[in-house]
Amino acid sequence: MVEQTTKVLLIESDPNVIAAVHTAMTAGNESAFSLNQKNKLEDGLEFLERQTCDVILVCLALPDVQGLSTIARLHDAAPRTPIIVLSHDNDDSAAVSAVQAGAQDFLIHKEIDHALASAIRHALERAALLEELRDARDELERRVEERTLELRRRIEEINAGRERMRALSQRLVEVQEAERRHLARELHDEIGQLLTGLKLRLALCQQLSLEESAEPLNQAQQAVNELLKRVREMSLNLRPSVLDDLGLLAALNWHIERFTAQTGVAVKFVHRGLDNRRFVTGTETAAFRVVQESLTNVARHAGVFEASVFLTVNETSLQVRVEDRGQGFDPGNVSGAHASTGLAGMSERLMLLGGTLDIEAAPGNGVRINACLPL
Ligand SMILES: Nc1ncnc2c1ncn2[C@@H]1O[C@H](COP(=O)(O)OP(=O)(O)OP(=O)(O)O)[C@@H](O)[C@H]1O
Ligand SMILES: [Mg+2]
Repeated sequence: MVEQTTKVLLIESDPNVIAAVHTAMTAGNESAFSLNQKNKLEDGLEFLERQTCDVILVCLALPDVQGLSTIARLHDAAPRTPIIVLSHDNDDSAAVSAVQAGAQDFLIHKEIDHALASAIRHALERAALLEELRDARDELERRVEERTLELRRRIEEINAGRERMRALSQRLVEVQEAERRHLARELHDEIGQLLTGLKLRLALCQQLSLEESAEPLNQAQQAVNELLKRVREMSLNLRPSVLDDLGLLAALNWHIERFTAQTGVAVKFVHRGLDNRRFVTGTETAAFRVVQESLTNVARHAGVFEASVFLTVNETSLQVRVEDRGQGFDPGNVSGAHASTGLAGMSERLMLLGGTLDIEAAPGNGVRINACLPL
């Protein structure tokens, strides 16, 4: 085993002490120690700025400094290097003060020849232990900091999740309100108007003879037929019973046929893996609404008479794609607008089910709506 040389810095001006240290160090193994000696503290500090050493031996009565401040200044210059104080007096209280000030050990002059080597060894062992302790403490602090950061991140995530849920429920209420407004308007404008006309005609019939009332009665009958048709349509728009009774595929076939008849927009419908499969109500409704709203948008905004609907099912998800090659739009311009609820409502509906809605659109470049619903 190769013995390492211990680098010792001796700060001492008394020639007798310097000689004693020299002798003590060369007594056993010549190469065990390498010694650098300085007379004054300033010289010692200057040395420490340029070089390192393993242990410092210092006198507390130097030509330039006296007392315990010597230890503090050395400690500042080399915080991890053990300091052994060499003293003329055998003074216990001075020894205690020196250790309290940061010295590792206290040696009186007449102990130097027989005790210096072991004092240095002990000081080095203690310094190594301290170093290990320091490393362990640093590691612990690092881990605590890591955990704290991790916890903080989690709390932020939870808070963000809460905020999202809050915003979602608010949007949901808004969407519901918009649907109610739409329904109220339709009841008032369409149904209300037809009923008023019917009432007037029936009142007129009361004043007329049986013969004269034939024409207004005929008109009243037509108004009732129209009313029946409107109410049926409203109910279908609210929720087609075929969706509950026969499932998604049947409901979409029914809706697309009706949509084409009403709007003149031809729809290419391609589906894979559906085979009359049933899904939970929320999923079927969401998929149906995506197709319904997207096709309505094609008829209202795209300016073309062709659209495509693709439906794909695999083990984990149900994917819906509706696309047209119409005039398109800039999605960045829509998201903030409060007037429209179609796209936003769709997106929220999907989010609540853990799905996603992706809108690919650009002015002049058509629109592609991609919805993915987890199964
Ligand atoms: N297929 C499309 N082609 C062109 N523009 C579209 C298309 N789909 C949507 N847009 C544009 O995006 C806007 C937002 O659509 P959204 O469905 O959210 O609202 P809306 O259809 O105007 O009203 P509603 O709330 O009744 O659905 C539309 O006003 C339209 O400008
Ligand atoms: Mg719309």
